[in-house]
Amino acid sequence: MFFYYYADILYMMDKNIAISLNGVSKKFNNKIIIHNTSLDLPRGKIFTMIGPNGAGKTTLIKMMVGLLTPTSGNIKIFGCDIVKEPIEAKKKFGFISDDPSAYDYLSGLEFLALTGKLRGMEELHISNRIREIGDIFPLDDILYQPMAYYSRGSRQKIALLSALIHNPKILFIDEPIVGLDPASINIFGNILLEFKKNEGTVFFVTHTLSFADNFADHVFIMNNGIIIKDQPISKNSLDDIYMDALNDK
Ligand SMILES: Nc1ncnc2c1ncn2[C@@H]1O[C@H](COP(=O)(O)OP(=O)(O)OP(=O)(O)O)[C@@H](O)[C@H]1O
Ligand SMILES: [Mg+2]
Repeated sequence: MFFYYYADILYMMDKNIAISLNGVSKKFNNKIIIHNTSLDLPRGKIFTMIGPNGAGKTTLIKMMVGLLTPTSGNIKIFGCDIVKEPIEAKKKFGFISDDPSAYDYLSGLEFLALTGKLRGMEELHISNRIREIGDIFPLDDILYQPMAYYSRGSRQKIALLSALIHNPKILFIDEPIVGLDPASINIFGNILLEFKKNEGTVFFVTHTLSFADNFADHVFIMNNGIIIKDQPISKNSLDDIYMDALNDK
């Protein structure tokens, strides 16, 4: 009797954990880049990771989305192991990399349609969804132009739309606002807040402390492949938290 009750509680707790890392390490050429990292990130929150160049932030996020395999440990997305059940796990999130390389010969619209197809969506569902999310940014006619001619900011906007196309529960973003103009930065941040309102979870890596301050709930500071600080953010506190963490290390 007790056993079932305990199992139920564990199950309920598990359902609230969007992203779980258990003893994750990564070596490149025998050098340890990420050291034995464990995290449980509940859903409905915006997490940011900051840290010096080369700290290991991109390496960690690439392991979370299945682009790199951990040397040891495991990563679960709503309970699905990203290495053992990649297709199931990938249905649950969208990813925007720090290099939103896209297919230059496709128009933005074709790129969104292709992404939807790769996510296993039906054509009608894809066009409905493009209509829903297509007016997030004032993209106007560039949607019909080849992406080869897009500015950095426009590529970033299309990357965000493509990450949202299949209505994911989690967004992973490496450098969300590089190339965006001030109005678009604000729109981008508000989309993250809206996403969170609908029980979404966001994990983004950035060097722009003001953006993290404005839009994230919780910060992780990474240095030399180790999370040296992990705490909630209150407005305008991030500069001090960051400098203190790096000076204390
Ligand atoms: N494929 C790879 N092979 C070998 N070393 C790598 C590889 N990818 C990353 N590294 C090394 O891992 C370390 C962490 O790199 P990473 O890109 O994760 O840092 P970062 O925190 O994202 O830095 P930045 O803030 O500059 O984006 C660096 O020393 C980098 O040179
Ligand atoms: Mg990086």
